[in-house]
Amino acid sequence: MAGCRSGLFFLTVCAVSLLGANAEIKVVIPVGKLFTYELMRETFQNDFEPLSKLYAGRLYDDPMIFKCNRQNFPDLPEWLRFTQRHPYDNGFLYGTPTTPGKSIIEIYAINKRSYETARHTLVIKITAGDMLPYQAEFFLKLREVEKVLPPSVQDEIKQDLQKLWNTQALEIVNISNALDRGGRVPLPLAGHYEGVYVKVGSEQYFSDCLQRVLTPEHQKQCTAGAKVRVPGGCNFCSIPSNCITWCKTELFDLTKEQPTPPPPTVGSGILEAGGDFEPPESPPSRDFFPDYIVTVIVPLILAVILCLLLAYVMFGRREGVEKRNARTNQIQLYHHQTIHGNTEELRDMAGNRRFPPPLSTLPMFNSRTGERAASLRSDSPTIPFIMAQHDPYSDTLPRK
Ligand SMILES: *[C@@H]1O[C@H](CO)[C@@H](O)[C@H](O)[C@H]1NC(C)=O
Repeated sequence: MAGCRSGLFFLTVCAVSLLGANAEIKVVIPVGKLFTYELMRETFQNDFEPLSKLYAGRLYDDPMIFKCNRQNFPDLPEWLRFTQRHPYDNGFLYGTPTTPGKSIIEIYAINKRSYETARHTLVIKITAGDMLPYQAEFFLKLREVEKVLPPSVQDEIKQDLQKLWNTQALEIVNISNALDRGGRVPLPLAGHYEGVYVKVGSEQYFSDCLQRVLTPEHQKQCTAGAKVRVPGGCNFCSIPSNCITWCKTELFDLTKEQPTPPPPTVGSGILEAGGDFEPPESPPSRDFFPDYIVTVIVPLILAVILCLLLAYVMFGRREGVEKRNARTNQIQLYHHQTIHGNTEELRDMAGNRRFPPPLSTLPMFNSRTGERAASLRSDSPTIPFIMAQHDPYSDTLPRK
């Protein structure tokens, strides 16, 4: 505990709050009736706050989440379910036991503000009881399971159904979320609810209103998808959200139920003696030699042949290569001679010309303006070479 410190005063506080944190709650419930247990956030809040702080007038309302499991088991018993919508809501344990026995449930509350935890233990003793022979299940379309589980709401619903059944001897047998029975998650809009199934049971046979559900015309109406109104003063819902969906109403007459089939006969669990274990024959041995030839030897031979071929081409035909080289040299020599001869010839022809050579062949000739700069001596150190080039825009544009 975070609040536990040394000192006599704190020691007593710790003892008290430790007792609180390990509170053990005992309940006795009969088989076949709905059990609900509300995990009150307030109760756990007291465990989280050292009493000294509480007396100082500071009250917290911390978000909390709960983890519930059967003692020494990872999960809850099969018949028990847990629900909590939001860390600022109370949690609920609910379900209907079907066999007598005892369940120890560990409840861990985790404070989402301080991340402290508190542990409570719930000991549920289930006593034998009879299943109510006549049961009916109703669907409340405009409900969510957490809103139905508080005892006051359960009573409201029960009162409406007592009127419908026309008897006071009515017990709620089961309450379940429609989502647990294949229902769809509703749109996150106002007026859309998950839906809740409420099962009630009684010793008394179904009332006339209820028996209407069994009639063929009602079933025909329902399969046709029409909005079924059950007339004759059978609508008893005082609050719209507690109104039942008639077409999803189901009646169960447990007295007519077929006796459960006899359980399969269980043997002694020991195999009868008879013969020794005979291992299966080992499969026939397989000859891998052809596979070896195909995968190893053939590629190897091919590789050797290719290797030899390459070696022959590289080294065996060396003579031929030399011969070809000699021929190439001859051809190159011939080309050289002809180029040389042609140049000589061209020079002779140029020497015999009477016209002056074209301007473009002269040095320092500006091809754009046709100006000759031959008078400038390019070897003179005082005149930069670049001046020979004339800028056509230099006359029109002012220089800066
Ligand atoms: C109660 O409803 C739940 C959910 O549909 C179901 O699994 C469970 O068997 C029901 N219990 C009884 C006793 O009918």
